[in-house]
Amino acid sequence: MTGRKLGILPEILAYPNWRHRVHLGNGLYTMGYNTLENDWEFYGMPENIAGKTVLDLGANDGYYSFKAEEKGAAEVTAMDIYWGDGSTMVGGWPLQGITLLKTYLNSNVVIKPESVYDLHQSQRQWDVVFCNDLLSWLEDIPRAMDQISAVCKEKLVIHDTFSTRKNGLDIEIRQLGIAKLHRMRIDYLVQCLRKRGFKTVSIHKVYSFKHYAWQFENFAPTTAHNAIEIWDSPIEGKVIKTAVVQEVWVLQTFREFVYLREIGWAKKSDLRIANRYKYFWLRQLKKCIPDWLLNLWHGRIGLEKNIGEFVITAER
Ligand SMILES: C[S@@+](CC[C@H](N)C(=O)[O-])C[C@H]1O[C@@H](n2cnc3c(N)ncnc32)[C@H](O)[C@@H]1O
Repeated sequence: MTGRKLGILPEILAYPNWRHRVHLGNGLYTMGYNTLENDWEFYGMPENIAGKTVLDLGANDGYYSFKAEEKGAAEVTAMDIYWGDGSTMVGGWPLQGITLLKTYLNSNVVIKPESVYDLHQSQRQWDVVFCNDLLSWLEDIPRAMDQISAVCKEKLVIHDTFSTRKNGLDIEIRQLGIAKLHRMRIDYLVQCLRKRGFKTVSIHKVYSFKHYAWQFENFAPTTAHNAIEIWDSPIEGKVIKTAVVQEVWVLQTFREFVYLREIGWAKKSDLRIANRYKYFWLRQLKKCIPDWLLNLWHGRIGLEKNIGEFVITAER
C-alpha cells in the first residue's frame, strides 16, 4: 500500500452509504458508524498475519481487509454479495465503498463479489479466514460452515452476536434485520467446527456495551433547534435539504463542516456540539468494575439488553 489517491477524496466524502470507519490519514475517516479505529484489537483479531493469505467474508466496506493488508498479509480477498444496495444485510452491500477505498489506499486487496455459499467455486484455500458479523445474517449456517471450513487452511476467526436471554449463549439468526427465525447455541457452532477438522476452538465473550460506550464517548452529539442546511459534500458541495437535529452523532469533521450520522454534512457554526469527553470520569470508574457487573447494570438500564458479542478462534 503506497501513497494515497487524494484526487478521489471528494468522492469519498460525498458518498453517503459508509458503514465502516476507515482511516484516510490526518485524522480523517470514512463516515461510517461501525468499526472504530481499534476494532481489530477490541475483538482480539490475530496480531500476526504477516505473510498470510487472508479471506475476509462479508467484507462490507473493507475495514478488516485493509487492516489485514496494513498488518502485512501477503494477499487479501474481500468477499461479499456486492450487488445489493445495503438496505438489508441479507440483500447485499454496495460495491462502491470498498472500491473507492481500494483506489484511495492504492491497495492490492482483491474484491470478490460472491456469496459465502458459493465458496467452493473458488477452488482454493486461504491461510486465515475472517467471518465477522456475517453468520447471524445467514439462513443456512451449517451449509455456510461447510464452505468456510473447506477453504480455511490454518485459522478461522468468527465474530458475532449472542443473546443471553435463555441460559447460555444463543446466536440470534436475524433476517431483514429483525431478530426472529431460528436460534442456535454457540456450543453447536463449536461442534460444527470440530467436526470439520479444527483441533483448537476457543471462545471469548466481548460485551458490546463497551463498544457502545466507546462510540458515545468518541462521537460528539449535536443539536440544532432551527432547521439547518445539509450539504452533500464538504468540498464544493451543494445544499440538499434542511433538517432539525437532536442528539445526532458527529462522525467526521472536515474544515468548517461536520458529518452528521445518516444525515449529511452541516456547517459547524449552525450547530451546538456537545463535549465528547463529558464522561471521562465515568469511563475511568468503569475500568475498575468487573465485566459481569457492568453488563448487568447496562442490561438493567436497557442499553444493549441481553446482547453481547463473541469471538471464536478455530485452528487446524
Ligand atoms: C453486518 S455486515 C458485517 C461486515 C463486516 N464483516 C464487519 O464485521 O463489520 C454483514 C455483511 O455480510 C454480507 N453478507 C450477507 N449475506 C452474505 C452472503 N451470503 N455471502 C457473503 N456476504 C454476505 C452483507 O452484504 C454485509 O456486508
